[in-house]
Amino acid sequence: MSRDWVHWHQEYDTPGSSLDRRLEVVRRELRKALGTSPAEPDGTRRVISICAGEGRDVLPVIAEHDRRVHALLIELDPVLARRAGETADDLGLSRVEVRTADAGEADAYLDVPPAHVLLACGVFGNISAADVRRTIAALPTLLVPGGIVIWTRARGDNGTEPAQEIRALFAEHGFTELSFTAPDDARFRVGMHRLAGAARHGALSGRLFTF
Ligand SMILES: C[S@@+](CC[C@H](N)C(=O)[O-])C[C@H]1O[C@@H](n2cnc3c(N)ncnc32)[C@H](O)[C@@H]1O
Repeated sequence: MSRDWVHWHQEYDTPGSSLDRRLEVVRRELRKALGTSPAEPDGTRRVISICAGEGRDVLPVIAEHDRRVHALLIELDPVLARRAGETADDLGLSRVEVRTADAGEADAYLDVPPAHVLLACGVFGNISAADVRRTIAALPTLLVPGGIVIWTRARGDNGTEPAQEIRALFAEHGFTELSFTAPDDARFRVGMHRLAGAARHGALSGRLFTF
């Protein structure tokens, strides 16, 4: 990992910062996803967050909205993973598992049942275009049919919009766009897509991405 991701999380603590605003959008979309995604017959849902950081998006939302959610947070940095685990404990979320693991390695998902909702926030801007493509192509393997992905991507420094390519890739891989939030006065973009095509349940192999 090339960046200090513990330090990166500090921007969340500045009210009105871009990251704070992005968090509000991601939480809003997650609440919607938990209300509209498929669920198990008993009403429970599985959520996977790849590169989950401190889990600031997932944990408070499931604590407020649906404590029955089984959430798997995969985070490589042990400090951040520990913080996520502590927050889950503080919130009394017994169905949250935080794994300190490499989410870019296909083997990380070997024993993971397909999710109803998957978050890929703060991922696509930190990996190569080829890895973005590989990761989006792999998502139908990680989801139930109709499963929902929430993702983020920042606008480029030079005014480019890499999120447009990501939206196109989701369409190419059988997803329907549910929402795309792109405020004029902020660089963050948040997309939400539903898997409309077939889920592809089989083993993933190799590497999906490297930060
Ligand atoms: C931009 S932050 C996003 C964190 C969180 N998803 C959020 O939006 O608040 C990227 C996170 O990915 C983690 N990370 C980097 N490489 C990873 C990998 N191979 N597997 C799992 N996590 C990784 C970093 O430690 C960092 O917490």
